[in-house]
Amino acid sequence: MKMTREQRYRLIEQAEEGEIEKLEALISACSWRQSYHIQPITGLLNDPNGFSFYQGHYHLFYQWFPLGTEHGMKYWYHVRSTDLVNWEMMGIGIPPGDPFDSHGAYSGSGIVKNGKLHLLYTGNTRDEAWVRHPYQCLAIMDESGSVVKAEQPVISSVPPGYTEHFRDPKVWQDGDIYYCVIGAQRTDETGCTVLYRSSDLTAWEFLGEIQTHLSHFGYMWECPDYIEMDGKGILLFSPQGIESDGDLYNNIFQSGYLIGEPLNLQTGEFQHGEFQELDRGFDFYAPQTMAAPDGRRILVGWLGLPEVEYPTDASGWAHCLTIPRQLSLRDGKLIQQPVAEMAKLRQQAQGSCYQTTLENSSETIAAFDGIAYELECEISHFNAERFGIEFRTGAEEKTVLKYDRLQQKLILDRSLSGAPMKGVNGTVRQCKLNGDVIKLQLFVDTSSVEIFVNDGEEVFTSRIFPSPESGGIRFFASGGKAEFKATKWDY
Ligand code: FRU
Repeated sequence: MKMTREQRYRLIEQAEEGEIEKLEALISACSWRQSYHIQPITGLLNDPNGFSFYQGHYHLFYQWFPLGTEHGMKYWYHVRSTDLVNWEMMGIGIPPGDPFDSHGAYSGSGIVKNGKLHLLYTGNTRDEAWVRHPYQCLAIMDESGSVVKAEQPVISSVPPGYTEHFRDPKVWQDGDIYYCVIGAQRTDETGCTVLYRSSDLTAWEFLGEIQTHLSHFGYMWECPDYIEMDGKGILLFSPQGIESDGDLYNNIFQSGYLIGEPLNLQTGEFQHGEFQELDRGFDFYAPQTMAAPDGRRILVGWLGLPEVEYPTDASGWAHCLTIPRQLSLRDGKLIQQPVAEMAKLRQQAQGSCYQTTLENSSETIAAFDGIAYELECEISHFNAERFGIEFRTGAEEKTVLKYDRLQQKLILDRSLSGAPMKGVNGTVRQCKLNGDVIKLQLFVDTSSVEIFVNDGEEVFTSRIFPSPESGGIRFFASGGKAEFKATKWDY
C-alpha cells in the first residue's frame, strides 16, 4: 500500500510503535537479501553520497528513507571500509529535519580539509504550498565519527535563471581552491550543470554554467561529477528526460558522461565529445566517484532507478549499491573494472574451471551452481550464430547473456529472470560488440548481476529476482560452435 505524503515525510523518531520491528521481520524473511552488496537495513536506499577516504577508511554514505520503500524523508546512512569490500555499518551520517533540510538531506559529496571530513549536501525543504526550496549545506565529521551541521547553508539561494531543481553538490580541490558542480534545471526546463568556487568550503562564488554543447538534453541533470584523467576532463551526470533511441536510453533515466579538454575553471567552457552511457543494463543511476589514496579513481552507483517498482518493496526494503569499480580511459571511453580487492571475496584461491567447445548444444555445469559468485568466461573460436551463458537457471527461470554474431550484439535478457519489476521498458538490453574473443566477468549476488565485458569496455548492471532454488548455469552455442573457458569462485 502506498504511503501518504505525511507518512513519507516522517523522521525515524516519528515511527509508530512496532513499525520498524515489523519492517525488520519482513526483511529477515526475504529471500532476495544480498550477500556482498551494500543494502539498507530497512526501507529504501538510493544515491551513493560522500564517497571519500578519511583517517584510514573509505567512507561511503547513501540516500536512505528508513520507514518504507518509497522516496520520502531522506537521511545519509554511513558505512566505512578499509578495503572497499568489507563494509562496517556506522549508522546515520546526516539526519534531516532541521530548518534547512526539513524535508531531506539530499545527495552530496565529501572532501577532507584540516583533518576533518567535510560533507556538502542539498538540504531539501518544502514550504506550506509544497514548493521546494533547496539549500546547499555543510556538515563536518571528525575522527570520532560525530557529524556537526553548519548552522547556515553555504549556498542559500538558487541563482537567477534556474528552478528549484538545484541539487547534488560534488566538490573537488584544485590547488588551494575548491570547486563544486551542482545539478540544475534552467527556467526553460532544460538540464545543465553549474560551477562554484570557494577558498574555504564555506563561502561559495557562483561561476556560471558548465558550457557544454548539450543545450537541450533532458529536463534535469542530477548528480554531476567532474574528474580529470590522462589530461582529459570528464563530466559525469544523470540526465532526466532523454527519449530512448534504439539500444540507447531505454531506462527511465540515464547516467553517462562527456569527455573533453579539461574544463576551463575560469569561464566554465568545456569542449567535449558525444554523451556516452555508463551502463548497458536495467538498473544503474546516480554514480559518484572518489580519488583513492593510491591514485585510483573509483566509482559506485545506485543499483536501481526511481519510478520502478521492485519485488522487494513488499518485503520492506529496496535497492543496493553497485560494487566499487576502478575507472580508466581507453579509446575515448570510460572503462569500468571491478576493484582488485573484490578477489578477497573469493572463497577458493583457485576457482572451479570449465573448458569446452559447444556446437549446436548446451551444457549445464553442476559445479558452477550458486547464487553469489564471480564467474569469468572467455569465449573464442566461434562461428555460431548465437552463444552465451544462462545463469540463475531453475525449472522455469533463467537470465540469459548471449552474443548474436550476425547482429554483433551482446544481449542481456531477463524476461525469465524471476519476479518482474513494474515500470520498466522491455525485458532486453543490448549493445554492439565486435571482436574474435569475448571476455565476460559476472558478479552475481542473490538478486543482482554486474557484467563486465572485455575488461570493462561495457558493463551491464541489473537486478534480477529469481527464486533461491534457481542457481544453475548453462553454456550454449547454436547455429555453429564456440569455445568456452570459464572459472567460477563462490563469494
Ligand atoms: C537522484 C536524486 C538526487 C537527489 C536524491 C534524493 O536519484 O533524485 O537528485 O539529491 O536523489 O534522494
